Amino acid sequence: MVLNFNTLLKSFWFWFLIIFISIQFIPMNVPEKLKDDPTKEIETPKEVKNILKHSCYVCHSNSLHFPWYDKIAPASWFAKEHVKNGRRAINFSNWKNYTKEKQLNILKKIPKSVIIRMPLPSYLWLHDEAKLSQDEKKLLKKWAKNLTEKIK
Ligand code: HEC
Repeated sequence: MVLNFNTLLKSFWFWFLIIFISIQFIPMNVPEKLKDDPTKEIETPKEVKNILKHSCYVCHSNSLHFPWYDKIAPASWFAKEHVKNGRRAINFSNWKNYTKEKQLNILKKIPKSVIIRMPLPSYLWLHDEAKLSQDEKKLLKKWAKNLTEKIK
């Protein structure tokens, strides 16, 4: 097939491609991995840690594992915005740097957060595997309650 250059320039897909490639270079300052001190990570029973890692660490920890489709703009912008705000709210990797008040405050919010808001519904839309089962929600709530008693 011989492509006529003029036709190419007028083509929607040509410009779509140029724009699509260009936006990949727009930097967003949200590193996938932050400098990590493993001794500061939250300590939990193994079942709880599995749930947190599976469903919460994507946005609430120092190390993320974005699937490939979250690395491509514009999806990556949403992913990184979630991570930026998520880490600001809670970073389980830095748990031991938090004051007692902050820890209690977070634990207080967890039971409510897992009912509908967490993991973020817009995230679950593409990541069904992170959805919490009823049992996992129960376990997280119980754990948050127990840990609250322990810290108090
Ligand atoms: C896709 C990203 C993402 C995932 C996954 C995620 N969160 Fe969040 N989380 C956020 C963001 C962003 C915020 C801060 C903004 C907000 O409150 O909406 C937040 C805030 C919170 C808060 C504070 C709520 C408040 O009212 O201040 C709690 C508690 C929380 N998350 C718990 C969890 C738990 C538990 C999980 C796993 C079951 C989880 N999150 C998974 C993005 C996420």
